[in-house]
Amino acid sequence: MRDILVAGNWKMNGDSAGNSELVAGILAGMPDNERIKLLVCPPFPYLGSTAQQLAGSKLLLGAQTVSEHSAGAFTGETSISMLKDVGCEFVVVGHSERRSLFGESSAAVAAKFKAVVDGGLTPILCVGETLEERQAEATERVIGEQLRAVLDLVGVAGLATAIVAYEPVWAIGTGMTASPQQAQDVHEFIRQMIAAEDADIAAATLILYGGSVKGDNAAGLFSMSDIDGGLIGGASLKADDFLAIATAAAGI
Ligand code: PGA
Repeated sequence: MRDILVAGNWKMNGDSAGNSELVAGILAGMPDNERIKLLVCPPFPYLGSTAQQLAGSKLLLGAQTVSEHSAGAFTGETSISMLKDVGCEFVVVGHSERRSLFGESSAAVAAKFKAVVDGGLTPILCVGETLEERQAEATERVIGEQLRAVLDLVGVAGLATAIVAYEPVWAIGTGMTASPQQAQDVHEFIRQMIAAEDADIAAATLILYGGSVKGDNAAGLFSMSDIDGGLIGGASLKADDFLAIATAAAGI
């Protein structure tokens, strides 16, 4: 049975005191269940202090994005080795906000994904369609292209340690969640696309759902056969809300 991963993407929120209170709250309520893994992705300035705070615990640490370059004249960017240095193990790549607000193309996302894998960290690759694309019945084409860009660059072996997150853009921060069946259909499509190249890798890949996941809808989503947890935005900013999702996961 695959693990269930509940990953918090804090986006550009918080400050030192608030973040440390949030992490303390999560640490105090971590579910006592080996199958449930919890991960937080704070903004860059707080990665080091969060790493220190969660050291020795089972809470995992990730970054929200990374540069595809290893070092040099890239003002404002952060490299994989820097993330490793401060204790990160996971990196979100291709979040829809990065794609839409910062112009990251699928090719750029694939390059970041490759940098993460080459650097020995675990990428969490986000894919997802907009509302217009869903209404035009282009969901599978869009997700297929986003995933294909990565597969073409790193090969299926590059996905062996990766996590994929299906995040329909229309469900992010809107309170409009995909129904468990809508999400399951896309997760199954993603797993089949990987399975077409390697069935074992496909079976082992964690595929998270993201988009307005809350304590009261998490169980329905996570009980679907191809949904292995969630990437949580808004509800990851309060320990109680985040832990409610972890508790729902533990109850499955
Ligand atoms: P949300 O965000 O849970 O606030 O919808 C999800 C995400 O952007 O990862």
